[in-house]
Amino acid sequence: MAKLVGGLAVSHVPAIGRAIADHKQQDAYWKPFFDGFGPAHDWLAKVRPEVVVVLYNDHGLNFFLDKMPTFSVGAAAQYSNADEGWGLPVRHPFKGDPDLSWHVIEHLVEEEFDLVTCQELLVDHAFCIPMELFWPNGDMPPAVPICFNTVQHPLPSALRSYKLGQALGRAIESWPEDKRVAVIATGGLSHQLDGERAGFINKEFDLLCLDRLVNDPKALTGYTTRELVALSGSQGVEVLMWIAMSAALTGRRRHIHSHYHIPISNTAAALLVIENEAVPSPA
Ligand code: DHB
Ligand code: FE
Repeated sequence: MAKLVGGLAVSHVPAIGRAIADHKQQDAYWKPFFDGFGPAHDWLAKVRPEVVVVLYNDHGLNFFLDKMPTFSVGAAAQYSNADEGWGLPVRHPFKGDPDLSWHVIEHLVEEEFDLVTCQELLVDHAFCIPMELFWPNGDMPPAVPICFNTVQHPLPSALRSYKLGQALGRAIESWPEDKRVAVIATGGLSHQLDGERAGFINKEFDLLCLDRLVNDPKALTGYTTRELVALSGSQGVEVLMWIAMSAALTGRRRHIHSHYHIPISNTAAALLVIENEAVPSPA
C-alpha cells in the first residue's frame, strides 16, 4: 500500500520563476527567500517521495472565466508547461502518474466529490515554480495535479477544501502501489494583486494560519470565503490548497519547517513542511 509521507506548501509568485531562470538566488532581494529551503530539501532527501499530488490553482491557462470547474484532476502521462502571460521560460513537460490519478479520481467520486477529469492539462507557474523550488536539480518525481478554483466566485469553502483534503489522504493511502507519496500545496499566503487593496499583506493572519495548519487545520474551516478575502486578500484565498494539504495528512502532523518572508512581489511568501507520522492502529 502507498504511504503518505507528508505535505509541503509554498507560494508560487511568478517572479520566483524569473529569479530561478536568471540565477538570482544569492541576490540581496532573493537570498532571504531562497535560504529558507534548506530544511525542505533535507526532508525531501530523507523521505524521498516517489509521486507527488500537487494542489494548485490554474491562472487562466486551461480554465478561463467562461468555464471554471471547482476541482479538476489531471489524469495524463505528462503535463506540458505553457506561458500564461508572465514571459517565463517554458519548461520541459512534467511526468504524470495516470494510475494514481485514476485511483484518486475513483476514490474522490466515490466520496461524492464531483470532479472534472483532465486527460490533457497544461500547467502554469503555480505548478512549475513549486516543483522547481523543491527539486532545483530537475529530478522531480511524477505528479498528479489537482486544480482548485480560487479565481472565480463562488469558490469552494474552506470546509469543502478541508474535506477534499481528507478524502485525498484516504485515497492516497488506499492506493495499492507500494510507493511513498507527498502532497504539495501552492499559492498564498496573504496577497491581493488588484483593486483598492492591491499590495495588501496580513502578517498576523498568515502566522496564525501557519500555526493552525500544523496544530489545528480544522480551525481554519470556520472562516467564510468573504472572511478569508477580508483577512488575506482576494488572492490570499489560495490558502484553501494549504488547508487541503494539511487535512490530507492521515497520521500525526509533525512540524518540520516553516519559513515566512515579506514581500516577494506583492505576496507574503511562505513555506511549510509537515511530516505525516503514522499512528499505530489499536491492537
Ligand atoms: C503574484 C502572486 C500570485 O499568486 C500569482 O499567481 C501571480 C502573481 C505576485 O505576487 O506577483
Ligand atoms: Fe497565484
